[in-house]
Amino acid sequence: MGPVSELRTERLALRQMTSDDLLALSAIMQDAETMTAYEGPFSEGETQGWLDRTLGSYAEWGHGLYAVTLPQDPAWMIGQCGLTYQDLEGEPVLEVGYLFNRAVWGHGYATEAAQAWIGYAFGALGADEVYAIVRDTNLRSMNVAIRCGMAVRRRFVKHYRGVEMPHLAFSVRRP
Ligand SMILES: CC(C)(COP(=O)(O)OP(=O)(O)OC[C@H]1O[C@@H](n2cnc3c(N)ncnc32)[C@H](O)[C@@H]1OP(=O)(O)O)[C@@H](O)C(=O)NCCC(=O)NCCS
Repeated sequence: MGPVSELRTERLALRQMTSDDLLALSAIMQDAETMTAYEGPFSEGETQGWLDRTLGSYAEWGHGLYAVTLPQDPAWMIGQCGLTYQDLEGEPVLEVGYLFNRAVWGHGYATEAAQAWIGYAFGALGADEVYAIVRDTNLRSMNVAIRCGMAVRRRFVKHYRGVEMPHLAFSVRRP
C-alpha cells in the first residue's frame, strides 16, 4: 500500500512534509519551551536530520509524521502529527506522535489530528493498538493521549540525548 497522500479532519489538512517545511519545522524543534520533554531545543543539524528521517519514513512505512496545516494556509505547517514505529523496551510499537507550534496550542488541534491517525491505524492499517510514549513530565502530551481514549499501560526509562528519562506508555486498543 502506498503512502496516504492527505488526511482531512473537521478543521485540519494533513499532508506529507517536504524540504520546503524546514523553516516551519525549525520554529517547532528549535523552540526551547516546546522541546522541554526532549531535553532542550534541536540544533539546525538535528532539525535537518529529523526532517530527513521523516521524509524517508513515507517510503519505508507508507506513513510517518505529516505536516498539519489549516486549510486557509496550506503552505505553513502549524504542527506535525502521524504514525511512526517506536521502540518500547525492545518491541517496535505503532505510535501516534504530535508536536505543534506553541502559537497554536490550546485549540484541540493535536487531539483532532491524532484521532484521525488512530482511525487510520485501526482502519486502513488494520492495527490492533496505537501507543503514545510520553515523558513523565509532559502533562500536555498525556492529556492528548487521554483525550484520544488512551490509558497508561507501562512505565519505563528511555535513554535519550544523554539523559535517563522515565516515560509512560499510553495506548488505545482496537474498539
Ligand atoms: C503535546 C501538544 C501537541 C499538546 O498541545 P495542546 O494544544 O495542549 O493539545 P490539544 O490540541 O489537544 O488542545 C487541547 C486544549 O485546547 C483546548 N481547546 C480549545 N478549543 C478546543 C476545541 N475546539 N476542541 C478541543 N479542544 C479545544 C482544550 O480545552 C485544551 O485546553 P487545556 O490545555 O487548557 O486543557 C503540545 O503541547 C506540544 O506540541 N508539545 C511539545 C511537543 C511534545 O512534547 N509532544 C509530545 C511528545 S510525546
